[in-house]
Amino acid sequence: MLPYGRQSIVEEDVAAVAEVLRGDWLTTGPQVAAFEDDLAGWTGGVGCAVVSNGTAALHTAYAAAGVGPGDEVVVSPMTFAATASTAVALGATVVFADVEEETFTLDPAAAAAAVTSRTKVVSAVDYAGHPADYDALRPALAGSDALLLADAAHSIGARYHDRPVGSLADLTTFSFFPTKNLTTAEGGAVAATDPAVLERARRFRNHGLVRDRAEQRRPDEGGWHQEVHAFGLNYRLPDVLCALGRSQLRRLGDFLAARERLVRRYDEALADLDGVLLPARRAWARPAWHLYPIRVLDGRRREVYDRMRAAGIGVQVNYLPVHWHPAFADLGYRRGSCPVAETFYAQQLSLPLYPGLADADQDRVVDALTAALRGAPAPSAA
Ligand SMILES: Cc1ncc(COP(=O)(O)O)c(C=O)c1O
Repeated sequence: MLPYGRQSIVEEDVAAVAEVLRGDWLTTGPQVAAFEDDLAGWTGGVGCAVVSNGTAALHTAYAAAGVGPGDEVVVSPMTFAATASTAVALGATVVFADVEEETFTLDPAAAAAAVTSRTKVVSAVDYAGHPADYDALRPALAGSDALLLADAAHSIGARYHDRPVGSLADLTTFSFFPTKNLTTAEGGAVAATDPAVLERARRFRNHGLVRDRAEQRRPDEGGWHQEVHAFGLNYRLPDVLCALGRSQLRRLGDFLAARERLVRRYDEALADLDGVLLPARRAWARPAWHLYPIRVLDGRRREVYDRMRAAGIGVQVNYLPVHWHPAFADLGYRRGSCPVAETFYAQQLSLPLYPGLADADQDRVVDALTAALRGAPAPSAA
């Protein structure tokens, strides 16, 4: 089965990991700060804290923003469940706000309507690698003390009005899962424009421990002394994986260029195909395409999905609207509340996209999609 996403690992990545394995540090060591510095090169200098995955990044970002019981967090429903469930885990109430047509990123008008004086964070998602409209979202926070969060699990390296993702919101979270734009196997990061928020994120990922004597309540306890001032967790990203991340980051520009080239090939090959709509991009966006999300019209998504899978093409659906998950339905969230996201879900299909996708395999995807739409038997897997 041709996968919808796949990592790209070369000998330099293997060597970078092996070097750390032979050294003194396996977990927190010099590669952690070095990876964070390298990441800041992609966030316009905004400081980063690396964590153990993208879900941990969201949990850490919400904790650093002070999210807790009684707070509301406004979330796009067109995302992976973690964008919302990590806020629930902190005791907050999630309020879903619908997405815009075409980009399927958080709709500033819907976000503004959802914000109240209790809103602590508004979370946009750079769906498929296309940035949300951050300048238009900022006024939506009026009347609250909320922070703006970018879930950039899909979009590291993307630009918005020529500004890099990582610098567009108060908090930005990344995922380095293997299908993403770069990988550390499991991994993630939080970028925060306010150094105090970044420091809270750093502490949260390490049990909330305070080591600086100047801040301790009992600094004279002894040289071993560390204090927990606010509860945290162990979300540390090991040195071994940070070395992999640094090696991958050196090729991020190449990865994005390869994805962009494949997106243009899809755009050209599918331009005249009836029955589908292709992903749109705003003039101000330079996306970091993580997904190639098409829309299959006329109620045929399920049939096309099944036909393409039968032809050995690992198409995927991203995503079930988050409020449709039973855990949210059981809390009283209702279908019909975010019609743009829900209509999009009914049509959405992600075609394979990753830097190592060969042109011949991409052509096979195009042929299988064309055959599926014509209703003819799809070509069999090679
Ligand atoms: C939009 C979005 N947010 C958050 C996550 C969670 O990231 P991870 O799988 O690294 O925990 C993902 C990844 O699946 C994602 O796609």
